[in-house]
Amino acid sequence: MKRDLKDIKPKDITLGKVLLYMNYKINGALHSFRRLIIPFPERFVSNTTDMINKVSSDTDERIYRGPMDFPEIEELKLYWGIYKNITRTLRKGNRFDLYYNWKDIHKIIKKEDRVIIKDLFEMWYVQHFQPKRILEVGTRTGKSLISQMIFHYEIDNTLVFCIDPFVEQGSSRKILKNLKLIGSRPLGLVVLNRYSEEIMPEIKRVWPELYFDFILVDGSHEPEDAYRDLQMSVELLDKGGILCFDDLGPTGYNLITVWEKWKEEHGSRFTTREYYKPYGFGVAQKIR
Ligand SMILES: C[S@@+](CC[C@H](N)C(=O)[O-])C[C@H]1O[C@@H](n2cnc3c(N)ncnc32)[C@H](O)[C@@H]1O
Repeated sequence: MKRDLKDIKPKDITLGKVLLYMNYKINGALHSFRRLIIPFPERFVSNTTDMINKVSSDTDERIYRGPMDFPEIEELKLYWGIYKNITRTLRKGNRFDLYYNWKDIHKIIKKEDRVIIKDLFEMWYVQHFQPKRILEVGTRTGKSLISQMIFHYEIDNTLVFCIDPFVEQGSSRKILKNLKLIGSRPLGLVVLNRYSEEIMPEIKRVWPELYFDFILVDGSHEPEDAYRDLQMSVELLDKGGILCFDDLGPTGYNLITVWEKWKEEHGSRFTTREYYKPYGFGVAQKIR
């Protein structure tokens, strides 16, 4: 059912400690709302600010200890077993979603011994660095988020922002369901049901002091959109924080040229590494 613009009312729903911000339903009219900026409702901002303050009071003390040693592929491959278990566990709630078809994934891994996926890096990173403020651009049904949460020891002191207009699959409720299936739930989960180009500047405007420890850019795979998401991430990332960018490889979306262009512009502020071919992803740590 198509909704009229005047019928759209921003609302925020508090589910326990989880905030969902939804301002329209997913339907055929979605694209016409792309440029529509609706300010965050007051209650949503104040609840989110409370969560940010709580998490930040614990992170303020943290000191940047210099560039990290990015893990080797062999080290990341150790996480395949857990990834497999997560996928299997989530399968029952996601039967028709290819993302959870473990048998197919298994075939790919067997065929392409060098397959490496961002989720393995995320697991490694969370296990070793316990990021407290996470931003995910493109969350879909929460698969990569869940891979991270499994390794979070301080789940009750973590803030996760998800940005996704859910144009493929998924919804905020689906993410919650999947988190529950795996028995995990971060303290502050803010699901922003909007396009990144609108919401990333809005986050910076509303919470100028908020910096993230980890940002995954995995939203629109149109080169221009992906480049803009990378650009916008620079000012949202804390010093020492990690940026992860998916689908560099030729059998994926081939975003390697976008990544290289971004590195040319911002490389002096980051150390970077690619885990490339056939799917591949890039990671960057902000060092200044
Ligand atoms: C590849 S999926 C994300 C997969 C997820 N990160 C994972 O690994 O499980 C891409 C997601 O980006 C979302 N998306 C598409 N365009 C977007 C945009 N402009 N801003 C934010 N998200 C977008 C889609 O709705 C989709 O859910």
